[in-house]
Amino acid sequence: MTSDQPTNETPCCQQQQRRTFLARLSIALSAVIGVIIALPGIGFVLAPVFRKPKQKWRKVGKLEDFKVGGFVLVQYEDSSSVPWAGITAKEGAWIRRASETEFIAFSINCRHLGCPVRWVDDPRLFMCPCHGGVYYEDGTVAAGPPPEPLQRLNVRINNGQVEIESGPTPLTLTKIT
Ligand code: FES
Repeated sequence: MTSDQPTNETPCCQQQQRRTFLARLSIALSAVIGVIIALPGIGFVLAPVFRKPKQKWRKVGKLEDFKVGGFVLVQYEDSSSVPWAGITAKEGAWIRRASETEFIAFSINCRHLGCPVRWVDDPRLFMCPCHGGVYYEDGTVAAGPPPEPLQRLNVRINNGQVEIESGPTPLTLTKIT
């Protein structure tokens, strides 16, 4: 070997090796920082897939506030709401006191595409303003595009308060074509 040949110990090779090492180190550090930044976002997106939907009983009024007869609209908080959800945490239901001890409640959301349905006392039907969906007072479909009856909600009387079991809003079964 002649002394003109560059070896690993010559200054030019050492500089080259240092540059390669620093380039790899900077790529590795960038990757680590990228993962640290992305993790909360990935967790936020994937968490609902793994989280079990919460069911909670929500007070909707005193027992004596409900007269036996037609449906009244009540509002309550979504069981899965987060502190920053604001107005989007509100859910609605149509509730009817069928007898002294029996209540019937339906989710306000139409089973077609989720618009809020409206109770009309005469002719005792739920009407959907979006595409003309109509439901009978037992929640079954009378006319229009809804593929399913209105979602029935559990109701209980607890210490003189009427409570609705709040759960996730049902997904529509309508196939979008
Ligand atoms: S959303 Fe109610 S009929 Fe379409």
